[in-house]
Amino acid sequence: MQRLQKVMEKSSRIVIGLMSGTSVDGIDAVLVKIDENGINTKVDMLAFENYSYPEEIRQRIFTLFNPKTSSVDQICHMNFLLGNVFAEAAWKIIKKAGLEPKDVDLIGSHGQTIYHLPELVQDTGYQLRSTLQIGEPSVIAERTGIITVADFRVRDVAALGQGAPLVPYSELLLYGQKEETLALQNIGGIANVTLLPAGASLEQIWAFDNGPGNMIIDEVVQRITKSEQTYDQDGKLAKQGRVNEKFLNQLMEDPYFQIQPPKTTGREYFGSSYVDRVMEGATKEGMEAMDLIATVTAFTARSIAHSYKKYVFPRQSVDRIIVSGGGSYNKTLIEFLQKELKDKVVQTQEEIGFSSDAKEAIAFAVLANETISGNNNNVPQVTGAKHGVIMGKIIL
Ligand SMILES: Nc1ncnc2c1ncn2[C@@H]1O[C@H](COP(=O)(O)OP(=O)(O)O)[C@@H](O)[C@H]1O
Ligand SMILES: [Mg+2]
Repeated sequence: MQRLQKVMEKSSRIVIGLMSGTSVDGIDAVLVKIDENGINTKVDMLAFENYSYPEEIRQRIFTLFNPKTSSVDQICHMNFLLGNVFAEAAWKIIKKAGLEPKDVDLIGSHGQTIYHLPELVQDTGYQLRSTLQIGEPSVIAERTGIITVADFRVRDVAALGQGAPLVPYSELLLYGQKEETLALQNIGGIANVTLLPAGASLEQIWAFDNGPGNMIIDEVVQRITKSEQTYDQDGKLAKQGRVNEKFLNQLMEDPYFQIQPPKTTGREYFGSSYVDRVMEGATKEGMEAMDLIATVTAFTARSIAHSYKKYVFPRQSVDRIIVSGGGSYNKTLIEFLQKELKDKVVQTQEEIGFSSDAKEAIAFAVLANETISGNNNNVPQVTGAKHGVIMGKIIL
């Protein structure tokens, strides 16, 4: 407890952020120095790396996503296995920064989402939503000896929020501008946007999941290349194909795009059974492989653009759209997105001098810093939570 007290009293902390998203491409690990907290937060990045999952572990995580292939013994086992993998990522990033574990005050770990049920349901007289992230933080604390703050989403979900998105909080602290309204567009497995109005306070930001990010592109590429490629590197495959407008229009009829924000989605909706239907439809249409990749890439771009036209622009003028996440490296996707949003400035996070990859990992370092500072760190109007809460379980 004394150790915790000491860390709590510091005004500057060395914090590690660990994140693995719905793409399951690997663990993003960042080591940062954070000065102050709340609206005065300042972050200096000292080291960042994406540690890819070994293919075998990646496949085993995918079996957990599907209720038909998942089992309770595997979930139990994988929770601890991933705890070790996350701990190893922490060790590696400490080494990369040229530090020792004793130099680090805190780890903020998101874990790996394996299931997310954001719908509000009634069950035997209880009202609830649910979500499950694994990668046991007790293992991380044990293996590193560092105080670990983890499992953030569940606290927001307990307050009847959707537990997502959580990144807007740190985005306001780190990127908010006095003069400009920014749309921070992340394209990970799922695409999500945060609107930061010029000079906004926490109560004025808003955010939602646009729909699929790379998730459908990834899965279609894997099926077409028989798993030789897990994603369309730099959008090269999509570039070779032609977009099938008719099929694209069919895809755009999905009811998710008609739901008013705030809304969140995940692999439960846009995952493998969704892609089964896409593949079936494409076969019926007699589409060529590259045309299909081009079309699902255009689908990702159009569904994002559509959400701006339908939900964002009527409510908020936007000065700049800044794209982050792995999708920002897919050149064809970015080209399509710029075409769909002709009169808007679309830039990537890299173009403005920040790492696209590190952003989410930094967010979890910042959220952990807020937990230890005793600040509410969810954004109720974004997640739908009844009130502000301090997210994160603290493992000593
Ligand atoms: N060079 C690249 N070209 C095209 N797509 C890329 C590239 N690098 C990463 N990606 C895409 O980004 C995804 C990972 O994005 P990320 O932001 O880490 O998502 P998540 O948060 O879901 O893990 C990969 O699965 C891949 O689809
Ligand atoms: Mg990732």
